[in-house]
Amino acid sequence: MKSTKSFSARDIMGSKGIKPLVMVTAYDALMASMCEESGCLDMLLVGDSLGNVVAGQTSTLPVTLDDILYHARCVRRGASSMFLVADLPFMTYPYPRDRALEAICRVMQDTGVQAVKMEGASPAILELVEQSVQMGAPVMGHIGLTPQQQAIDGLRRKGRSEAEAQALLEQGLALQAAGVFALVLECIQQDVAATITRTLRIPTIGIGSGPRCDGQVLVYSDLLGLTRDPPPFVKPLANMRHMVMETLRAFKSQVEAAGQVSTHAPPKISH
Ligand code: KIV
Repeated sequence: MKSTKSFSARDIMGSKGIKPLVMVTAYDALMASMCEESGCLDMLLVGDSLGNVVAGQTSTLPVTLDDILYHARCVRRGASSMFLVADLPFMTYPYPRDRALEAICRVMQDTGVQAVKMEGASPAILELVEQSVQMGAPVMGHIGLTPQQQAIDGLRRKGRSEAEAQALLEQGLALQAAGVFALVLECIQQDVAATITRTLRIPTIGIGSGPRCDGQVLVYSDLLGLTRDPPPFVKPLANMRHMVMETLRAFKSQVEAAGQVSTHAPPKISH
């Protein structure tokens, strides 16, 4: 298995205040190879958003550990030298603890990613982060809108009330103390995300949380304009959905113009 030279979670931490971190999701070798070749990204995320993007599910909840393992291996094959982070899927953590640690171990050992991402900041998650880091598996945190909690909390913007803003800051501090090397802030009010970013020593990576984070992450298909209905906070930088359809139509025209559609009756087959 190929892996990166010596780029580590510590390097990501060290970028705080020096350069903005740029991250997108990837789920397959083709996209991963283009991300690597672009030379402009700091990290790739094998996100459980693959449930929506690749599998056509309506949430991330059906994504399994085997799905993450398969897609993380594909991404590693496409981007052999990039720093990769893989999501731990719904219900594989933080309980039972042994099974959660086993899941982290499989994700790291079987795929060659450098870190795992966990959603939330409950006491059990904090303990798992601490154990994982002590055992050598770096963890990226994720607070704000946490899609794995949608059955309980819905999918809503976070930090609108003062109490919620304070709770988010406390979650960030607790995750930092537990040892996460970076923290995704998803759909958090801009000023609250900015306060968390200013307060923490670790880099924050925003998605739908305004520009005042230490970096940004996007689902690649939203960024490229491949998604039919991207989330409202995404401004796609291309319209590749249109380009794909135009290319398919151009292929159809080319096939027709070359006369490859036979108008003759098929030869008789004798038995
Ligand atoms: O799964 C994912 O793509 C994510 C990003 C939205 C941060 O967790």
